[in-house]
Amino acid sequence: MAAARARESERADRLFDDPLAATLAGPEGFDWLERMQPSGGSGGPGLYAVVRTRFFDDFLLDACEGSGVRQVVLAAAGLDTRAFRLDWPPGTRLYEMDLPEVLDVKDEVIEGSGARATCERRTVRVDLKEETWPEALLAAGYRAEEPSVWLIEGLLFYLPGAAVHSLLDRVTTLTAPGSLLGLDLMNRNLLFSPMAWLQLAALARRGAQGRFGTNVPEALLERHGWEADVTQPGEEGANYGRWPSTAPHRRLPGLPRSFLVKARRS
Ligand SMILES: C[S@@+](CC[C@H](N)C(=O)[O-])C[C@H]1O[C@@H](n2cnc3c(N)ncnc32)[C@H](O)[C@@H]1O
Repeated sequence: MAAARARESERADRLFDDPLAATLAGPEGFDWLERMQPSGGSGGPGLYAVVRTRFFDDFLLDACEGSGVRQVVLAAAGLDTRAFRLDWPPGTRLYEMDLPEVLDVKDEVIEGSGARATCERRTVRVDLKEETWPEALLAAGYRAEEPSVWLIEGLLFYLPGAAVHSLLDRVTTLTAPGSLLGLDLMNRNLLFSPMAWLQLAALARRGAQGRFGTNVPEALLERHGWEADVTQPGEEGANYGRWPSTAPHRRLPGLPRSFLVKARRS
C-alpha cells in the first residue's frame, strides 16, 4: 500500500502527496507492487489503494471539519501517514492501532525522517483479533463517550468472519451515537474470481488467514448498529477521473466487486 502511495505521489495529477511512503515501503514494498501489477500497469491493487486512500482522506477530514469530531482511530493503520500529511483541525487526537512489530518499524522510519505529526498522534500496539485491544485504546486516552471517526481500511478482507464480527461489535461498544466509521470490503464473488487468484495466492503465501467478503455491506453494518453509505470504486465520488471503467450496477449478480463504506452510528 505504501509503495502504491509513493508511486502516486510522483504523478503531476496526484490525488495526494505522501512524502514518507517511499521510505516506508522500502525495496520490498516496490517489489510486491511490481509482482501484483507486472509491467507497470496502472490498474490493479495499486489504483485501488490510491482511490481508497483519497476517498478516506476526504471522509476523515470531512468528519473533523464538518461534524466537529476530534478523535480519529485508524484500526490496522499499517504504514498510513495521515497523521503527518493531512491538515487536521486544532485539537485533533489520532490513534493508530496495529501489531507491535508493524508500529515499531514504522516509528523507526518516521523518527529517522524528522517528520512532525499535524495532530496529536498516539500509537496503540495491539492484536485486533484479541479481546483486550479496547482496554489498550482506552488506556491511551480514547474517550468512548465522545464522538469519534474510525477507519478500518485494508483489514477486514484478511480476517476470518468471526473476527470481523467481534471487531465490529467492539467498535460499536466504543463509539457514541453519531460517530462515523469508514471501511472497505470485498464481495463474495471477488473471493472466488479468477481475476483475484494471483493476489489471493500471494496473500496466502504471506500468511493472510481469512478471506472475508460480503455482497451486502449495508446489512453487515446494520447488524452492528451502523447505517452505511456504500460506494464502488469508479462510481461518482470514488472515480477522480482515474478509474478505467464504469462500476457495474449493484443489481447485476455474480460480479467481483469492492466497496468503500461510510457509516454513521445509529
Ligand atoms: C493491507 S494493510 C492496510 C494498512 C493501512 N490501513 C493502509 O491502507 O495502508 C493491513 C494492516 O492490517 C494489520 N493487521 C493485520 N492483522 C492485524 C491484527 N490482527 N491486529 C492488528 N493489525 C493487524 C497489518 O499489520 C497491516 O498493517
